[in-house]
Amino acid sequence: MPEADKEGERYQAGTPQAAPGFFLKGSHQFDWGLKNRLARTFNPQSGRTVMLAVDHGYITGPTAGLERIDLSIVPLLPSCDALFCTRGILRSVIPAESQKPMVLRASGGANILREDMSDEEIAMDMEDAVRLNACGVGIQVYIGGEFETRNVHNMTRLVDQGLRVGMPVMGITAVGKNMKRDAQYFRLSCRILAELGATYVKTYFVEDGFETVTSSCPVPIVMAGGKKLPELEALTMAYNAVQQGAAGVDMGRNIFQSDAPKAMIAAVNAVVHQGLKPNEAHHLFRSLKTNK
Ligand code: R5P
Repeated sequence: MPEADKEGERYQAGTPQAAPGFFLKGSHQFDWGLKNRLARTFNPQSGRTVMLAVDHGYITGPTAGLERIDLSIVPLLPSCDALFCTRGILRSVIPAESQKPMVLRASGGANILREDMSDEEIAMDMEDAVRLNACGVGIQVYIGGEFETRNVHNMTRLVDQGLRVGMPVMGITAVGKNMKRDAQYFRLSCRILAELGATYVKTYFVEDGFETVTSSCPVPIVMAGGKKLPELEALTMAYNAVQQGAAGVDMGRNIFQSDAPKAMIAAVNAVVHQGLKPNEAHHLFRSLKTNK
């Protein structure tokens, strides 16, 4: 029996955490500027976001689907609630006329040539995030990894800098090659990131007990997509994640590596904001793909 089934009751996933006066849990006691940045990143009507993650190049170079962000991603901007990218791509490729909120990758230092990619540092000054009119910054933490203490310290420094200027910090639960991806691990890592000050947390979906991950994390969770899956599977994962308490998604490869990225992001939007069922969303995807 999955662990969540044995222990699930203690998490009371059916009872939402109160957030008096604001639409996002854990965020109601922040100042106006930080709340305003959150209200631009997350849709206040649905309480959710479709963030498009295109930051992969900071670690994997010209990733499949991101070889030409000007050609593949800029046309998708109208279809997302926010873009998660590096400041390099923002300055060089993303039109400054864009009204979309930008969340900036704030860590760096390792890449795919290295055995262990968790050896990161803060790679952006908070002053630059403000200069770029960012709506948030993101940094990953490998809980249980070799450089865990440094990763945690990087995030807490960023949180301190962010609080000074009203900048939300998205803590990302990165997973090392040999780490187990289950609810127990993600409950641990999401909760640690929230306790240490992350404004919201990005994590992966797990089939068993994801609702215990979201309900035991006192701040919003957005779901990372992971490796490219067939569209119906990716839509099912996004559906299950939001139905089980995620405040949306921060998906990359399952959108930009699709044969029809515009159709796919429209289908993801329908799942996240309108609660469309996976089969209906897949039908929408196929019809938009045919008519593109
Ligand atoms: C990975 O380098 C980044 O943190 C991505 O933003 C994250 O993994 C989400 O992208 P994907 O949906 O492709 O996993």
